[in-house]
Amino acid sequence: MKKVGLVGWRGMVGSVLMQRMQEEKDFDVIDPVFFTTSQAGQAAPNFGKDAGTLKNANDIAELAAMDVIISCQGGDYTSDIFPKLRAAGWDGYWIDAASTLRMEENAVIVLDPVNDDLIRASLAKGVKNYIGGNCTNSIMLMGMGGLFKAGLVDWVSSMTYQAASGGGANHMRELIKGMGVVYGSVADELATPASAILEIDRKVAETIRSDVPTEFFGAPLAGGLIPWIDAQLDNGQTKEEWKGQAEVNKILGNEAAIPVDGLCVRIGAMRCHSLALTIKLNKDLPLAEIEALIQSGNQWVKWVPNDRSVTVKELTPASITGKMDIGVGRVRKLNMGPEYISAFVIGDQLLWGAAEPLRRMLRILLG
Ligand code: HSE
Repeated sequence: MKKVGLVGWRGMVGSVLMQRMQEEKDFDVIDPVFFTTSQAGQAAPNFGKDAGTLKNANDIAELAAMDVIISCQGGDYTSDIFPKLRAAGWDGYWIDAASTLRMEENAVIVLDPVNDDLIRASLAKGVKNYIGGNCTNSIMLMGMGGLFKAGLVDWVSSMTYQAASGGGANHMRELIKGMGVVYGSVADELATPASAILEIDRKVAETIRSDVPTEFFGAPLAGGLIPWIDAQLDNGQTKEEWKGQAEVNKILGNEAAIPVDGLCVRIGAMRCHSLALTIKLNKDLPLAEIEALIQSGNQWVKWVPNDRSVTVKELTPASITGKMDIGVGRVRKLNMGPEYISAFVIGDQLLWGAAEPLRRMLRILLG
């Protein structure tokens, strides 16, 4: 059995990965070795298999004994350890959730329901680095893969609604705390049906401005939104927005880039990222044909007809969170012309957006 080193398995993405690996019985077919940056020598976790003791995640020799390493430890760890490991001659497979290596020439961004061909061709060529994509892009491609595969997409305008989990565990906590602070500020008035709504609103606005915690988001998210995600680039884009075109085209293996751009916005959902898309097709196709192509993208597309009652029930974070489904709906032709369509795509940011492509890459390696 292949020795698979797991680093960062205790964090949020790592924990979701461990959960999925247990559900899919991945531990039955590997020899897992758990690494730690702080507790080497202590007992390793048991996910249905005794894995001995924890190894030191900074020990290059220990890491180099692995056939495969999966890291959810974050970008700083990758920047520090990966070059040392390769410099030491390690020739194993590196699977990573962090963005550090994504755009490197010798790395593939993995999303096998969409780019299985590219992954297999790269394996045959001897590529050893397989990196999970940005969550928003992975979710978009899981939903719209059918149209891209058919070569029908001229460009995509992608307006996002991104959940707190994209920032990390502390950000999720901050969102919930903020919601509690907002509620607490008007709990008495809410309990009194006769109280004046504008007075409640005034208090809520004041609370959002001054009392909602902002340590992690840098601005109040509860009861609001933040139209900026990640660093500022010189061209006016955020780094999150830049990743759209760069990563989508790399995942698809495109030589000529399909333009993908739009604004990325943080909203008060817990772990479901959504995207409102405008897609310019290169052909005027009947809507039924477009719908059929989207549905044929992969088995996880959960098609939601463009109908009010089903959309408000099924195309929402409440419905999708914690599931493997990628909801796709609100598909219709737009006033701009017969080649312009809208779509709303939603997925769990920790599953397809982070953990799932990594464990599926491991399965591909195991054959
Ligand atoms: N950058 C994403 C976000 C998550 O902040 O929502 C990681 O892909």
